[in-house]
Amino acid sequence: MDRYAVFGNPIAHSKSPEIHRLFAEQTAQALGYEPLLAPLDDFPGFARTFFEYGLGANVTVPFKEEAYRLADRLTERARRAGAVNTLKKLDGGALLGDNTDGVGLVRDLLDNAGVRLQGKRILLLGAGGAVRGVLEPLLAERPAALVIANRTLSKAEQLAREFAELGSVSASAFEPLEGPFDVIINGTSASLGGELPRLADGLVRADATFCYDMMYSATPTPFCQWAAGLGARTRDGLGMLVEQAAAAFELWRGVRPASAPVLAQLRGQLVG
Ligand code: ATR
Repeated sequence: MDRYAVFGNPIAHSKSPEIHRLFAEQTAQALGYEPLLAPLDDFPGFARTFFEYGLGANVTVPFKEEAYRLADRLTERARRAGAVNTLKKLDGGALLGDNTDGVGLVRDLLDNAGVRLQGKRILLLGAGGAVRGVLEPLLAERPAALVIANRTLSKAEQLAREFAELGSVSASAFEPLEGPFDVIINGTSASLGGELPRLADGLVRADATFCYDMMYSATPTPFCQWAAGLGARTRDGLGMLVEQAAAAFELWRGVRPASAPVLAQLRGQLVG
């Protein structure tokens, strides 16, 4: 049996095993996929042991930067992200590191939500690993402008400098932002603590702005609640989770699974 896994710590609540089981069933691929609790003090050793027999792995918190360092080769988007969420063993045994988070976000926006990014004004909230991971695929859609806004301005400025050659990208603190924007994406971890970055209502135009939270939960996140209250269309990050998995599955198996039925099933479980 071809073996795959997701490495994380903690890992018990990962939805990846179920997503990949559904993809394998749907595409009639015979494979095993298991959640593996990797040790915090020896991720490289653990991963190398797995790849003595395993063919591919997803990598989640807190190992994405370690996986980046472990990979023998990197895709361009993983190199830009500075983080790897997908490892694949190549013929000959070298490990390829990819990052499918950004393409997962972009596909969820374009294909599932029907949101165009080309020529649009995009506001991206946050400047941590989650935001760095999605910048290259977002800029590849050629927005008119992409503003990175962060509580700590210097981190947003650093990202804007690093990605400047890929498109029209700038940095801002929250207070001076001037809206409205066409698309607002929350990539801060504020919702984890039930919080919301301090955002002016004028950033949203009712019935026009599309607001996306990279986090998801059974009930609307604080960011989605704020946006919906101002008349925006909203969407949480469950679709991004399924789409990043679909892109990893395609990299490993050369087959593209249909994401819509899997997303519907996960949503049902989350709210049910
Ligand atoms: P991740 O890997 O999830 O991106 P991270 O690298 O720790 O995690 O980054 C967390 C991001 O959420 C940062 O942009 C952080 O802002 P700072 O750089 O100013 O710390 C942002 N963040 C976390 N809690 C926040 C809050 N309550 N309000 C606003 N921004 C918050």
